[in-house]
Amino acid sequence: MQKFYITTPIYYVNDKPHLGHAYTTIAGDVLARYYRQKLGPDNVWFLTGTDEHGVKVSQTAEKFDKTPQAYADEISAKFQFAWDQLNISYNDFIRTTQTRHEENVEFFVSKLKEAVGPDGQSVIYKGTYEGLYCYGCEAYKTENDLVDGKCLDHPNIEPAYLKEENWFFRLSAFADHIKEVIERGDFIVAPESRKNEVLRFITDGLDDIAISRANVDWGIKVPFDQDQTIYVWVDALLNYISALGYKDNDEKFKTFWPANVQLLAKDILKFHAIIWPAILMAGGLDLPRVCFAHGFFTVDGQKMSKTIGNVIDPNNLVAEFGSDGARYLILSQYPFGNDGDIKADDFVIKYNADLANGIGNLVSRVLGMIEKYFGGLVPQGKYGAEYNLKDFWGNLDQGYADLKLYENLKSMIDLVSWCDNYIDQTKPWELAKNDQDKLEKVLYNLIEIVRHLSIAVYPYLPETAEAIWDKLNISQVMVETKFEDLQKIGLMEPGLKVTKGDALFARK
Ligand code: ME8
Ligand code: MG
Repeated sequence: MQKFYITTPIYYVNDKPHLGHAYTTIAGDVLARYYRQKLGPDNVWFLTGTDEHGVKVSQTAEKFDKTPQAYADEISAKFQFAWDQLNISYNDFIRTTQTRHEENVEFFVSKLKEAVGPDGQSVIYKGTYEGLYCYGCEAYKTENDLVDGKCLDHPNIEPAYLKEENWFFRLSAFADHIKEVIERGDFIVAPESRKNEVLRFITDGLDDIAISRANVDWGIKVPFDQDQTIYVWVDALLNYISALGYKDNDEKFKTFWPANVQLLAKDILKFHAIIWPAILMAGGLDLPRVCFAHGFFTVDGQKMSKTIGNVIDPNNLVAEFGSDGARYLILSQYPFGNDGDIKADDFVIKYNADLANGIGNLVSRVLGMIEKYFGGLVPQGKYGAEYNLKDFWGNLDQGYADLKLYENLKSMIDLVSWCDNYIDQTKPWELAKNDQDKLEKVLYNLIEIVRHLSIAVYPYLPETAEAIWDKLNISQVMVETKFEDLQKIGLMEPGLKVTKGDALFARK
């Protein structure tokens, strides 16, 4: 049986969720919902969560006069609340302060202590780290990583100078292996530009990395050296296996590891495409299939920042446009994988054009005509419109395999336009006067397309899809029928009672 395991990064709890976090998480949800349609709900596992240890979190908690745990509890709950608002169908939400996670991390790091690398040497050893550290990234930095002495992602945070005894991980010993699996495509780093970036970076040479910190309290202690705390990134990356019950070799772990797709943005690519596979190799575990790093977006042309005041709270977006509206407005902006701009100034225009006057209006129009001309009963007919639904599905399936989430969404909106055109050209209101036979054919074609469209939009617009199924009187059919059968043409049953009901999207 095919299975699909998808993960998002676990987000830092130093601040509440913003649109960047929502972007990756919604993308993950679209994939999870699509694969549940395709493979059945039991064969998909979708993980998200929060990254709660580290100096950045404890310092922020202190600023608010809270314990790190109390602060993490508060912010983690905000992430869960935002994801509920956005209808994120995660199967599990992991928090790195949970005992189940901490035990797995201790277990794995103890295992590393005994492990021998490809060069025959032990993979971890004690050494001295002397250099810089950015608390914004929670990452060690070399002079090459900095511009004018500052981290590009955190220009407001002065990198700290550290000199401490740490446990090191022999990353250098894994360089050739990682390069090989990426080049062979056994471990896919995508998009292509990111893959090249990672390969260049490996070719330039990998240094060993410190995987523990001295004098850091808020974290998991190194099991064999209680004076040291496990480096927060090692702690965090292990969430992807701890959540499946790696330590006890749970059924879930056996079923779902390795991950099929790990989503993240380019800011944390090296952790996921270099350090993570090396750690997994050292621990004798399989590597994820795909590491997909999407780009960063700006909002109305500017970097999202508190100083500029353009940080978008996903809850506000849901309050204004509903959860489907918010999901749509975020994913419909630019191709997934690229850097892009979110045009918040045009949200209302886009919402009206594509949702209220687009899908919403099409569904109302078609059902309104069936009510008017056929008393709400699906007319006799056999699908005969020129629009090729088989190709539509073929392209969508391929698009999901390639993570073309924007193009897939666009093809659905294009289908709406196709239908609007078809209605304008066939003019059912005239046919109603003089060609009953053609009227039946046209409306049968339209209702069948609406059925396909409702199934296709489900991963992106789950509430809308379910509302359409209700109107089409096929909610039960949707539960009982396999996806590949639902994709067949001509399933809309003549004589079935359908209802126009309320508009799907209120115009703004
Ligand atoms: O890095 N555009 O957490 P984090 C697109 N805890 N995506 C954005 C974005 C933007 N402008 N801003 C944020 C961490 N993101 C670690 C991860 S995983 C083992 C540990 C998204 O809270 C994007 O997914 O800084 C990015 O990679 C992530 O938020 C970083 O979240
Ligand atoms: Mg960050």
